Amino acid sequence: MHSDRQEMGSFACVIHPLRPKQDVARRYPLLARVLPTPLIHFFSRFWPPLCLSRITGVRSEATGKEVRGWLLACPLTAGQMLKLPPQTAYRKIIETGGLAQKQGADILGLLAFTSVIGDGGVTVAQHLRIPVTTGRSLTVAATVGGLEEAARSRGVQLESAVLAVVGATGSIGLACAMLLAPMVAELVLVGRPSPRRAESRLAEAAALVSEAGARIVRTSTRIEAICGADLVLSTTNAVKPIIQPEHLKHGAVICDVALPPDVSPRVTRERDDVLVFEGGVMDIPGDVDFHFDFGLPPGKAYACMAETMVLALEGRYESFSLGKQVRVGRVREIAQLARKHGFRLTELSGLSTAGSHKEGTWPKVD
Ligand SMILES: NC(=O)c1ccc[n+]([C@@H]2O[C@H](COP(=O)([O-])OP(=O)(O)OC[C@H]3O[C@@H](n4cnc5c(N)ncnc54)[C@H](OP(=O)(O)O)[C@@H]3O)[C@@H](O)[C@H]2O)c1
Repeated sequence: MHSDRQEMGSFACVIHPLRPKQDVARRYPLLARVLPTPLIHFFSRFWPPLCLSRITGVRSEATGKEVRGWLLACPLTAGQMLKLPPQTAYRKIIETGGLAQKQGADILGLLAFTSVIGDGGVTVAQHLRIPVTTGRSLTVAATVGGLEEAARSRGVQLESAVLAVVGATGSIGLACAMLLAPMVAELVLVGRPSPRRAESRLAEAAALVSEAGARIVRTSTRIEAICGADLVLSTTNAVKPIIQPEHLKHGAVICDVALPPDVSPRVTRERDDVLVFEGGVMDIPGDVDFHFDFGLPPGKAYACMAETMVLALEGRYESFSLGKQVRVGRVREIAQLARKHGFRLTELSGLSTAGSHKEGTWPKVD
């Protein structure tokens, strides 16, 4: 049994409630019906982590190797993770990682706020026997590739476009801004409105994107600064939507990577001239079955989950993306490995041009 596991390779991904009512209802429909949202937030602190399902059928197109996995739930909501002292949230995530070890997983992937809070997985990894990855490297690769493809499909020329990055002081936002910097005409970096240090962190981010080849860079702590942008990339850790219909230019293309989303549902309802799509979603090779509905159509996963699968298929059991900083070398490497094993950017509704999202349209990061 043990040698079979070794041969097959395995992984586990930690998810957590992003939209408390809907997500709790996926597992406990009755409870979600009776509990008001504030109580779900409150009780999430006391619920134990749980194994949601087995993941089967992830198979490499290159080698035919199959890996199996587990979907685990850390019960804390995004709001709770931000509110609680990091040590309390770490404890819950480490407990969830303990479940992965018990199942026999070879590597653990952290989704959404389980890697956003605190030191980005470092403490969690120190307390587990298996390697831990945040999946940020593949998320960055998939986001850059998806945005390029969406722009192309909508006829937006990158070299003359204004790109706004909301959450540009964060890990994913800054890495994407640096990779996209040489491709666009102008960059607008938007940071959090309140904290005192936001201005200086934005200035640091502006220096880095200039070094990466940006021609014109502007910074702002006001969301209204995105109103002239042809392309918007949103990557904040806000727990509620911050982008409203009135913030967007006619015909803008908006890639929302944030989990929970940054773009208000009002945008799709009220602005049929703009294209909004969820960034960092990938098609998984093989006949993947998550045996649990975590909100994406069948056969698809978030890039951070996909990174864990790629590493398992490759037999690279190491903490590949750990900590808050994203390294461009790692982004390139994981993009190549993902492509090799048959992972693809998900084709976006409304982007039906023939040939989109094929191998050749993968991120220019490699
Ligand atoms: N789709 C995927 O596969 C995938 C994978 C991983 C992560 N994610 C999601 O991607 C998002 C970013 O992750 P990350 O690791 O880059 O997190 P991060 O390093 O914490 O970056 C988020 C940044 O957004 C800033 N911010 C917060 N509120 C803002 C506002 N109202 N306006 C402008 N900026 C604001 C934060 O500022 P402060 O530093 O002041 O807080 C921070 O710099 C999260 O929502 C995460 O769940 C998606």
